[in-house]
Amino acid sequence: MRRAVVIGTGMHLPQRVMANVDFERIIETNHEWIVERTGIHQRHIAAEGEVTSDLGTIAGAMAIKNAGIAPDSIDLVVLATTTPDDTMPSTATKIQHRLGITGGAAFDVNAACSGFVYAMAVANSFIISNMAKRVLVLGAETYSRILDWQDRTTSILFGDGAAALVLEAQEQKGTVEDRGVLFSGIHSDGQYTGLLATNGGVSSTMTSGKMFMSGKDIFRHAVAKMPAAVEEAMAAVGKPVDAIDWLVPHQANMRILSSVAQKLGISEQKVIATVANHANTSAASIPLALHLGSQDGRIKKGQLIACPALGAGLTWGCTLIRW
Ligand code: UT7
Repeated sequence: MRRAVVIGTGMHLPQRVMANVDFERIIETNHEWIVERTGIHQRHIAAEGEVTSDLGTIAGAMAIKNAGIAPDSIDLVVLATTTPDDTMPSTATKIQHRLGITGGAAFDVNAACSGFVYAMAVANSFIISNMAKRVLVLGAETYSRILDWQDRTTSILFGDGAAALVLEAQEQKGTVEDRGVLFSGIHSDGQYTGLLATNGGVSSTMTSGKMFMSGKDIFRHAVAKMPAAVEEAMAAVGKPVDAIDWLVPHQANMRILSSVAQKLGISEQKVIATVANHANTSAASIPLALHLGSQDGRIKKGQLIACPALGAGLTWGCTLIRW
């Protein structure tokens, strides 16, 4: 059976770091409140003129280098982003060109904070259906551009960043012990569009709009739907939840990560959490954590990794990968 196996990862965070105390000059808040309610200590913010494709290109180049392959052997680029450089062309095509990839296809996927899980589902489908052999999956975001900096309930939560994986088609036995993507579950329910959105867009206001969120409602959905997505994935492969070696959830809020782990009966020692250092980078957050966890030696070849996410839409899902 063809499986989509991870053969390389990469990441990039903008140079500028914004600490919690930096917000004290802009809004009524403080470091202690932010740490206690979110676990966030700092975030990286793109420089003026630094765009999503700049971050994605560096992350993609690192993933390709770590995979030890020629860029031109990639036949699909799927970029998860809600913050494209421009309305068109897709930011994926810009990254494709800047990485020296000349064939195949490239496109963006917009599922907000679930973007990575959606992009993995797309990439996996292309690989198992023999439509692609090597896929560069990226999450790259510049949420700093769509934040209302005066809104203390959202501005403190987000940061900019990018990360990438190279997936390669490999023949495996067709069992749950195979390496690669074992399950991709994605869901959406548009009745909740108003809980997390921008107050404008290309067709409605001819601007990008600024983000607003009903934080408590999103929190409630996240701590219910993310565990359910993990349970769905484990049931699909016929394994108990305790077979998971690492839980790598979307990095939104430390309290959400803890609650998801607790509901699943997974110890916090098995959770990879990076939200303290780069806040919520939306579609980039799971691949950032996967890259960091594999680089520091925690995530090892053959381990089972569950990556649940929830974002605007609402959208949610879980990617189950044997590393
Ligand atoms: O990927 C999906 C994207 N989004 C998320 O995952 C976010 C989900 N939601 C959350 O993480 C949390 O709901 C927040 C961090 C946004 C808020 O935490 P909370 O524990 O739900 O706080 P709250 O909204 O109940 O606010 C408690 C108090 C309020 O004051 P009052 O009404 O009790 O007087 C807020 O006005 O804290 C106040 N507050 C703040 N205080 C200092 C809200 N934001 C801040 C702030 N600094 N930045």
